[in-house]
Amino acid sequence: MKIELIENKIFINKGDSKEEIHPFWLRERLDGEEFLDKGTQQRLFDPSSMNCEVAVEKAKISDGFIEINFNDGASSRIDLNKLASEFSNKDTVIKSINKVKWDSTLNDVKNFEYKDNFFESKEMHDLLVSFYQYGFIIIKNVPTEDNFIVQFANSIGSVRRTNFGEHFNVRSKLNPNDLAYTTLHLTPHTDNPYRNPVPCIQLLHCIENEVSGGFSTLVDGYTVTENLKKDDPDTYNILSEVKVRFKFTDKNVMLEDWSELIHLDEEKNFKQVRFSPRLDYVPILEKNKLDQYYKARKKLSDLYNSEKNRIEFKLEPKDLMMMDNHRVLHGRTKFDPEEGKRFLQGCYIDFDSTEGKLRHLKRKFNL
Ligand SMILES: [Fe+2]
Repeated sequence: MKIELIENKIFINKGDSKEEIHPFWLRERLDGEEFLDKGTQQRLFDPSSMNCEVAVEKAKISDGFIEINFNDGASSRIDLNKLASEFSNKDTVIKSINKVKWDSTLNDVKNFEYKDNFFESKEMHDLLVSFYQYGFIIIKNVPTEDNFIVQFANSIGSVRRTNFGEHFNVRSKLNPNDLAYTTLHLTPHTDNPYRNPVPCIQLLHCIENEVSGGFSTLVDGYTVTENLKKDDPDTYNILSEVKVRFKFTDKNVMLEDWSELIHLDEEKNFKQVRFSPRLDYVPILEKNKLDQYYKARKKLSDLYNSEKNRIEFKLEPKDLMMMDNHRVLHGRTKFDPEEGKRFLQGCYIDFDSTEGKLRHLKRKFNL
């Protein structure tokens, strides 16, 4: 795409078509000192209160800049690359990272190693790209002292506090308020489907793991549901249409939220999966419809629980796993507490943390 000037009108030339850019669109983007605060990159004027019927009086393109004088007296030079970066309506950083489908055959995911200045390093950039490709990542050698997981989360973005606290300790305990705090086998699930919004990313940090069981399991909800779309569209359609209620009840709180098990975006593409069959309640629907729904959910459950789709591994002390709770399901095999300690710490962050960090690192390293 190229920016062209014809008789004080400014056009985008897309190769096969040419469209005039609205003068006010350009007027809003004036970035001289009097228009834009250089530190915050925030406007020093309020375009929403201005008359949008401005015209370009004079314009000139040279050395990668366009110099414009408007008929309301404002004038400035604008960087053409900066303008061009706004021609796409899509997010160019996150959406340009293609998701990689994976199943039990996955064996080449890179592990990352924690070191000094990790959060501002090129390594951190590569880690985040890998996270968006696979939906999870493991970092070795992360310090375990003083709830370091919270510092870790806050060094990427901000920890997402919930009613379980800023972070939670995963070990078996008496009278648990969640099955995570038992020694039971946990089938693949996503966390907290009853929240609005559902926490985006879970961090799990292994502090101690002396038991022979207690393996971590992961399933790619993206791969499973994309395959289902191809192999059994009827089942896929029911699961992406029927909204169910997820709920969580504790002494001091009652949480609930509604969603399809396969949630699609406006273009009918994958957006999020929720799966936690101990917490989901389908509304009362016509009997036939419910019959279809229950069969569809069973099929999805079988796929999520199939060995073909699952990877299984043991987290070692100091391993920190970061997983996309909107895409990847996690679980654990059962363990015997008599064998020793098993202690993990967890917390959540949201996508604004990883997205904000990734954009910052791309800018910093000119990537
Ligand atoms: Fe969980």
